[in-house]
Amino acid sequence: MKTAVLTGASSGIGAALAEELLLLGYKVFGIGRDFTTFLSETAEDAALAPLLHHFTPIVLDLAQTGILAEKIRQIRKLNKISLLINNAGVGYFGLHEELKPSMLHEMVTVNLEVPMLLCQLLLRDLKETGGHIIQISSVTAKKSSPHGCAYGATKAGLTSFSQSLFDEARKYGVRVTCIHPDMTNSNFYRNADFGTDKDPACSLSPEDVAEAVRTILTAREGMVFSDITLTPQKHRIIKHRGTD
Ligand SMILES: NC(=O)c1ccc[n+]([C@@H]2O[C@H](COP(=O)([O-])OP(=O)(O)OC[C@H]3O[C@@H](n4cnc5c(N)ncnc54)[C@H](OP(=O)(O)O)[C@@H]3O)[C@@H](O)[C@H]2O)c1
Repeated sequence: MKTAVLTGASSGIGAALAEELLLLGYKVFGIGRDFTTFLSETAEDAALAPLLHHFTPIVLDLAQTGILAEKIRQIRKLNKISLLINNAGVGYFGLHEELKPSMLHEMVTVNLEVPMLLCQLLLRDLKETGGHIIQISSVTAKKSSPHGCAYGATKAGLTSFSQSLFDEARKYGVRVTCIHPDMTNSNFYRNADFGTDKDPACSLSPEDVAEAVRTILTAREGMVFSDITLTPQKHRIIKHRGTD
């Protein structure tokens, strides 16, 4: 059975990815801090409930990289990983001088350092299995992001890292895909003074991203989606009161 490590599996895009992987027949080690909602919702889903025994929730704070590395070491003892999805991410937005240093540190750790670390820890297995790394980056990686300078920089770093890693590892049969979603309807913008518009044509759904991952994973061997950008038909966001 193919085995995946997926970060940020507890909500939003990651929860949709976890469900998609279960439906594709994967055994999934999902990392997050709170799986209460995910586990109760999937247990009530007729298609997913019978597959839930293939899902192992790993409750930890990714910022605690020592504990993360130890957990990965334990997983590797009994499992050969053929898929790593670096999905977990955090965003703090606003004028750069107003962000706290702790916010910058958290974004750099969770969005950039942790994906690099997980790739480093799992690459030997992925070379053996001819495996796949999928990074959930962001459209902000590819453009200027005022009010999200540091967030965009972490995603640009992730995209740059992924492109180089693919070139380094492709001859060993490892595929690396970087997905760049635009505004997606999740709780991601809870720390922001803006959010997604209610019109479904103005944002992606987590399921849209999961569908892209299904396409990536079911592509023929020898063909790699190295870079995918997903964007809604219309560009419109909602600004909360008191912002310019
Ligand atoms: N939403 C968008 O518009 C959008 C657009 C482009 C890219 N993205 C990217 O998509 C990815 C998923 O975001 P989302 O929209 O699904 O947001 P979300 O609903 O807030 O999900 C974030 C996930 O990351 C996990 N996570 C964050 N910090 C963590 C930490 N320190 N330790 C463990 N888990 C942690 C969360 O787990 P817990 O809640 O259990 O802590 C959650 O499962 C992120 O990388 C984000 O940058 C999002």
